[in-house]
Amino acid sequence: MHNSSVPTDLFRAQRSKGEEQLSDRQRWDHRYATLKPNRRTEPVPFLVACLPRLPTRGYALDVAAGAGRNSVALAAHGLTVDAVDVSWHGLRRAMALARRQGVRINPIVLDLSRGWLPRRCYDVVVNTFFLLRDLIPSIKSVLKPGGWLVFETLTIAQIEITPHRARDRNYLLKPGELRQLFDDFLILDYWEGVEENRATARLLARKPGQVAL
Ligand SMILES: C[S@@+](CC[C@H](N)C(=O)[O-])C[C@H]1O[C@@H](n2cnc3c(N)ncnc32)[C@H](O)[C@@H]1O
Repeated sequence: MHNSSVPTDLFRAQRSKGEEQLSDRQRWDHRYATLKPNRRTEPVPFLVACLPRLPTRGYALDVAAGAGRNSVALAAHGLTVDAVDVSWHGLRRAMALARRQGVRINPIVLDLSRGWLPRRCYDVVVNTFFLLRDLIPSIKSVLKPGGWLVFETLTIAQIEITPHRARDRNYLLKPGELRQLFDDFLILDYWEGVEENRATARLLARKPGQVAL
């Protein structure tokens, strides 16, 4: 584990003893290397619901893309996708998924806790099941004016649902927090609640700017 505020596994915030000495990259590499082949291949349902509103051309950034389920859906939608993650094993799975589905993605291994994002301007940014508050100003700045943001991650209500797994509040949203973090954006859709044993907050928003909204 890094000393800096590094995001943890939002599904399994409690680490096994053997994992405690590992870096985030090693932990995630191990998880993706041992993940069953058909796990995490379908895009997040909220992204699927947003897709008809998203542009079909331009650049998309998938923040902490993992095994690429969202990256591949964005590429199939027509976007050129940068899939960023700390885990090379995750991104290898993402590339394999892209190949199987006949699309291409750009895998980028990057430790986001350093605060850097690729130097590109994006039409769409997607961030699901990953929370790094310090990265939010960078997410805002890499989006083009009028660019689209799709964000969903767990809230602290998850602690009551799976107390043994998600209990580190640093990586869980407080009530109303996601809306507040993007209160300078045009919020088109916002929801907080529990569905299928997951307590999440969801946001679809556009960066204000010159482009006609
Ligand atoms: C719960 S998974 C979510 C993956 C993907 N967004 C999805 O919804 O399927 C969290 C992801 O964050 C990545 N991650 C954790 N710490 C990271 C860091 N410091 N920099 C970049 N990625 C990181 C992990 O490798 C993992 O793929």
